Amino acid sequence: MSGKRTVTVTLDGSNKSTTLPLLSGTLGPDVFDIRKMYNDIGVFTFDPGYGITASCDSKITFIDGDEGVLLYRGYPIEQLAEKSTFLEVCYLLLNGDLPSPQEFRNFEAGVMRHNMLHEQIRQFYNGFRRDAHPMAVMCGVIGALSAFYHDSLDVNDPESRRISAFRLIAKVPTIAAWAYKYNIGQPFMYPKNGYSYAENFLYMFHAVPPEDYKMNPVLARAMDLIMILHADHEQNASTSTVRLAGSTGANPFACIAAGVASLWGPAHGGANEAVLKMLTEIGHVKNIPAFLEDVKDRNNHAKLMGFGHRVYKNYDPRAKIIQKACHDVLAELGIKDDPLLDLAMELEKIALNDKYFVDRKLYPNVDFYSGIILKAMGFPTSMFTALFAVSRTVGWVSQWKEMMEDPGQRIGRPRQIYTGAPQRDYVPIAQRA
Ligand code: CMC
Repeated sequence: MSGKRTVTVTLDGSNKSTTLPLLSGTLGPDVFDIRKMYNDIGVFTFDPGYGITASCDSKITFIDGDEGVLLYRGYPIEQLAEKSTFLEVCYLLLNGDLPSPQEFRNFEAGVMRHNMLHEQIRQFYNGFRRDAHPMAVMCGVIGALSAFYHDSLDVNDPESRRISAFRLIAKVPTIAAWAYKYNIGQPFMYPKNGYSYAENFLYMFHAVPPEDYKMNPVLARAMDLIMILHADHEQNASTSTVRLAGSTGANPFACIAAGVASLWGPAHGGANEAVLKMLTEIGHVKNIPAFLEDVKDRNNHAKLMGFGHRVYKNYDPRAKIIQKACHDVLAELGIKDDPLLDLAMELEKIALNDKYFVDRKLYPNVDFYSGIILKAMGFPTSMFTALFAVSRTVGWVSQWKEMMEDPGQRIGRPRQIYTGAPQRDYVPIAQRA
């Protein structure tokens, strides 16, 4: 980060002014560094929702929202989606570069040897209602991992951080698959090494003990692709939650559980589940215009789920890739016409030509098509966000690790504009009217 150029801020009506350095990253807009502004001129900055505030510097992921570009460690998402595998992307996000063959073998073996859950964790599942949402189970069980791994909770120890990262990435698919098995009352399937990360998840999710499981390579590749596309997305709400929790020195299992909770909302990872619900409610192409009128009516709170993004003001590159994968999976499964896919494509076409969406630069995001592909692959809607959480764990862990290794790291503590009552004196209750 260079800081040769400056911005001078002068407070109107006073003789106070400050000169702030303008910082440049490798890519993206410059930012000015306001850290000394309060000391110099006594004012804070106001940016609810952090629309234009950089909360950290990071080397992991870059998004150009205007151009629809997404890079992991500099590599375009399109290239990784086509040529890489999820576990290789995990290595890349965590370590900064693509692995050599030997580094990859070591990494794969390291992750895979941590994929079982402690047998006592099985007991937790019995404490949940049968119909517990998988995200509720994931928040609980991931947080509870900290009760099992006292040996890796020292966040200042690099080896502890490394093992915690492996444990989290390795165990989340097992936790998510078991949440589903618990819902439907089937036996938990233990992970099976020899399968890839994505294959192993499909196996634990779909297989049953009495039958041999036949892996479908097209579906396994689609699963791997979905995981790559969701692996990281710079400082989104759940990642910022993980970083904020981590900035206090909280253990990584607690931090990732916080990330899962944050992801669950329909404005974030919960959107994939909400898209399918929305498409089902619209029901038929002929109902699209009335639905869009509802969305555009400012008195309604309805949103076109799977559309819009804080950063992308162009097509989300992940949505393009997933839309194509959707067609491949449906073809593989012999589904010639999927009414939901037809409906989604028509909805997209109409919305992209509607002034409301055009003026606001609202385009399909990754969640618009992911639900359709996941449904075709046999996942119930309640698993959609859980799958997002499984895939995003590596991003959360990488961002947490990067923050913990930053010598300049401080506790996250935003300020506010206080608009409540000014100071006043307490009146005993008997004297109040
Ligand atoms: N449908 C209808 N109007 C929308 C939508 C939408 N999906 N998204 C934004 N708008 C409108 C919004 O009402 C506002 O209108 P106006 O200027 O008239 O007040 C304008 O567009 C700007 O939107 P905003 O709310 O200021 O944008 P934001 O950056 O605060 O919100 C968002 C981003 C993703 C929360 C929002 O677009 C949204 O709620 N989309 C639907 C949920 C969704 O698909 N979320 C998944 C995001 S991608 C995956 C992930 O990161 O988890």
